[in-house]
Amino acid sequence: MTQPLRLGIAGLGTVGASVLRMIAHRAEALTAATGRSLTVTAVSARDRNRDRGVDLSSLRWFDDPVALARSEEIDVFVELVGGSEGAAKDAVEAALAAGKHVVTANKALLAHHGAALARAAEERGVALAYEASVAGGIPVIKAIREGLAGNTVSRVYGILNGTCNYILSRMEAEGLTFEACLKDAQALGYAEADPTFDVEGFDTAHKLAILTSLAFGVEIDAEGVSVEGISAIQPLDLTMADELGYRIKLLGVAQATEAGIEQRVHPTMVPKASAIAQVMGVTNAVTVDADAVGELTLIGPGAGGAATASAVVADIADIAAGLVRPTFGRSVATLAASRRVEMQRHEGGYYIRLTVHDRTGVAAGVATRMAEANISIESILQRRSAQAASSDPQGLSRQPVPLVLITYAATEGNVREALAAIGRDGLLAEAPQLIRIERE
Ligand SMILES: NC(=O)c1ccc[n+]([C@@H]2O[C@H](COP(=O)([O-])OP(=O)(O)OC[C@H]3O[C@@H](n4cnc5c(N)ncnc54)[C@H](OP(=O)(O)O)[C@@H]3O)[C@@H](O)[C@H]2O)c1
Repeated sequence: MTQPLRLGIAGLGTVGASVLRMIAHRAEALTAATGRSLTVTAVSARDRNRDRGVDLSSLRWFDDPVALARSEEIDVFVELVGGSEGAAKDAVEAALAAGKHVVTANKALLAHHGAALARAAEERGVALAYEASVAGGIPVIKAIREGLAGNTVSRVYGILNGTCNYILSRMEAEGLTFEACLKDAQALGYAEADPTFDVEGFDTAHKLAILTSLAFGVEIDAEGVSVEGISAIQPLDLTMADELGYRIKLLGVAQATEAGIEQRVHPTMVPKASAIAQVMGVTNAVTVDADAVGELTLIGPGAGGAATASAVVADIADIAAGLVRPTFGRSVATLAASRRVEMQRHEGGYYIRLTVHDRTGVAAGVATRMAEANISIESILQRRSAQAASSDPQGLSRQPVPLVLITYAATEGNVREALAAIGRDGLLAEAPQLIRIERE
């Protein structure tokens, strides 16, 4: 039997403590599967006295994760600290420079520094493994990098943030506002005290940038992702979506186009019958469109200690078995430069909810501006709220009313141009709502 694989784990929070437990619990099976025993030799966190529900007495403690990363007593540095800068980045760089394999769950680090870190790993011939960084327990990195190696991918998209999916699911099921559902998500521990990173789409953007690089063989480009969150979604949008046969999900979408790879994160209408529309609550899902397999959807837990540890331990097991894959599926030198595609060039169907003044000729005025911008309208719904209908059955108060349009494929530039013209015509009582439609 070969020497045990010695692990140093930095970060003993939700994920780190679960990884320690899982390695202890699965020791025998992991050795049988990989041909090598795994032994955690050292750990690092901030507070040495905190009870983490695991016995640390036999492990060497490092206050400084960088010192752990350089330690002669480890072969693999497991980074579960988090953050794109500071301790996590310094320690991962130090580990790679010292020729240690690195396993991380840190999407922010990968999204911002993935290219440089992958280069450093390649130069030293070590692994930089990050299965847990996208969609938690779903083995999506392995699926794309290894399972779909024979395919050309045309699109990859997913529900990559459980907090947003939880909020949208509750809004839809109970007709609640975004604010009310966010509060519940915070009370249940699904959302941070400062939820911006999740609800405004940045977390999804980091994960999408990683998937894009893997699926399309391009350099990671997190700054090239167009990002829009869910905070402007109103209960009326979910009701309208339901009537029109859609659900609203926050999707990260990477799509090959002639101009380059579109990378976008935004609330999206998906057909109710699609696999991704069935994914409710904190669950994540990733769909890959590829030439040989067609459409493939993976659904599972996107977060939580045990589910995320499952992905971390899978990476460790690969290293124990001697499997060292190029970080983004191919050598860094062969990754194509990322060609950004402006959101204005995106082409697809749109849901447009206008709040218009309730007077004759408004719908015709809107239709004219749409036609002038070369936009064909698939359906149009004009609706007074139930409340307005009951308090003012004849519509004498002339309160603004919602006018909902579904378009056939149009470019974002043309849609924006038409909306600007409608605004200049004085037809709108509020800023328009615009949600892209993603068809199967
Ligand atoms: N939680 C999830 O469900 C989940 C899912 C997917 C990916 N991830 C990723 O996994 C990573 C860890 O997340 P988590 O939820 O486990 O975080 P967490 O519970 O906040 O744990 C972070 C750990 O890092 C330690 N730490 C922080 N700064 C440090 C420093 N300067 N030096 C040494 N240790 C330091 C903390 O020490 P103390 O305990 O002493 O404060 C803590 O043990 C992040 O990159 C996150 O994005 C998490």
